[in-house]
Amino acid sequence: MVSIAIVNQKGGVGKTSVTLGLASSAARRGLETLIVDLDPQGNATTGLGVFEPLKGVINVLEEETVGGISEVSEKAKWPSSCGQIPYVAASTPNLSVCEPRLATDPLGAQNRLSLSFESANWPLVIVDCPPSLGLLTINALFAVDLTLVVTEPGAWSVDGVARMIQTIEKVKTRRVDSKPEIAGIAVNRLGRTRDDSYWNAKLEEAYSSYQLPKVHLRTAVAEASAQSLPIHGLGNRSGAAEAAAEFDQLLTLLLEDEYSESNSDEEEHSDGYL
Ligand SMILES: Nc1ncnc2c1ncn2[C@@H]1O[C@H](COP(=O)(O)OP(=O)(O)OP(=O)(O)O)[C@@H](O)[C@H]1O
Ligand SMILES: [Mg+2]
Repeated sequence: MVSIAIVNQKGGVGKTSVTLGLASSAARRGLETLIVDLDPQGNATTGLGVFEPLKGVINVLEEETVGGISEVSEKAKWPSSCGQIPYVAASTPNLSVCEPRLATDPLGAQNRLSLSFESANWPLVIVDCPPSLGLLTINALFAVDLTLVVTEPGAWSVDGVARMIQTIEKVKTRRVDSKPEIAGIAVNRLGRTRDDSYWNAKLEEAYSSYQLPKVHLRTAVAEASAQSLPIHGLGNRSGAAEAAAEFDQLLTLLLEDEYSESNSDEEEHSDGYL
């Protein structure tokens, strides 16, 4: 099992869009995947076509269910033609009140998600985190093997990523297995403006060893989420194939040690706003 948390305490940078893009790539390549939606906003849940979940990740967080993550998950409502449809441990409306309740546990509640992963056997688990460094994100950091920091190329993004990395490093020191590893930084919504190039260069300069392929600004990415469709299922929509190829490349790199896949059919793409 490979588990990856998609993180940044800054809101609106593209954590959920990247989660869904990677889920779409995994579906296309036939990988059984579980998406854990840890964000009370529930955008990953609805992006996967699940609008009225009966249960969700809150059940394992509040009930301390060892190994229970699979039992609170349901199959996403993406079209069956889109490959191996992922499962989702959904966000439910009451997730927003869960965090302050967890904070009152005198023994600490940072490992509830981790407990629920015990003996679960998904080839791939992707955890979409909320835009904060509260107990929900901390639970993700205590549960996963890898983190992917998503950022936009904007003012303060270098500082925001630094804060996120500091938090990950702190968690590493408290875990006996010294995880989670930082898989890298994915710059998302990279457009053609001078401002984007400037901030992207700043990020590359500050974190040269963490660089991953960029995800460019494309309306197809927003459309896929809004229509609760995988990006690979958008057909001939302008920019969809290019965006899908970027997520394919990102997933291949994240999994490179676990599942080696031929990249030979991937093409070079321009970095235009489409
Ligand atoms: N590559 C992209 N191209 C175009 N639009 C994008 C791209 N990535 C994200 N967006 C849009 O930007 C907005 C924010 O993205 P998203 O919801 O994925 O961010 P987030 O980090 O998950 O936000 P939050 O912190 O609130 O959970 C959404 O409207 C989304 O459709
Ligand atoms: Mg989100």
